[in-house]
Amino acid sequence: MPEIVPSNGALGARIEGLDRATANEPAVAAMLNQALAEHLLVVVPGAPMTVEQTRDFARAFGKPQTQLLRYKRSGAVPEVSVMVSTLMADGTTDKTAIRAEDWHTDDSYFATPAKATLLHSIEIPSHGGSTWFCNMHSVYEALPEATKKRIEGRRAVHGYDTPRARNRPSPRTPEEIAETPDVEHPLVRTHPVTGRKALYLNPNRLDRIVGMERAESDALLDELADEARKPRHHFGHVWQVGDIVVWDNRATMHRVMIDYPMGEKRIMQRVLIEGDRPV
Ligand code: OGA
Ligand code: MN
Repeated sequence: MPEIVPSNGALGARIEGLDRATANEPAVAAMLNQALAEHLLVVVPGAPMTVEQTRDFARAFGKPQTQLLRYKRSGAVPEVSVMVSTLMADGTTDKTAIRAEDWHTDDSYFATPAKATLLHSIEIPSHGGSTWFCNMHSVYEALPEATKKRIEGRRAVHGYDTPRARNRPSPRTPEEIAETPDVEHPLVRTHPVTGRKALYLNPNRLDRIVGMERAESDALLDELADEARKPRHHFGHVWQVGDIVVWDNRATMHRVMIDYPMGEKRIMQRVLIEGDRPV
């Protein structure tokens, strides 16, 4: 059986000695899902794969889903999108990458956001471009008791865009707009596997707390985000070509560091795994 080696940081583990072709065997898939729920981030080192192999590997975690943005669905395997976050002088850098520079969890603007996201590195810059993760269980647990009481049972509105986000998202087609009405989620969610509570924040998508005046809601969301920005909750993944990284969107946030040289390629395959309604 492969070995699970926890990181010495706030979250994350490496799965050593895994033959990726066995990922869908029930015992291996169960081990991977348990490691994901416990460590919130799993790194599976290995060689670059085809989009078909990546889709098949991702199935160990659940059902791969297609992305909202149609232009990101690649022809033969629409569940695997190829994310080019190469930094270009002419401003053609993929918008998603710029947006991903601030802390977020993926697809919280959907009523049923993705359970997990898989990234598989195909090409990486000579340095920089690491991805950072935030443990939202430890963020919740670190909040003062008074703040925990204030947010208990509260719901929040997530939208495709909010003026609270630092950067604007990619434009949507009319069809994509129709698929993304604002949604409400609890501010504190319970992890369905471990039963642990996590703060469910997303500075890129979270517009306001239901039933609060804008000023009060903004101040409280800022206070919550300030806790999440503390390095003690973070772990950074430095990419090697061929890495597979899977993170648990139910109890983490992540961000990319756009600190790599202009023009150097940064190409990832990306798969979203279908999730449940946050509770
Ligand atoms: C994502 C994302 C970060 C990165 O794929 O959702 O935020 O490091 N990616 O590319
Ligand atoms: Mn993301």
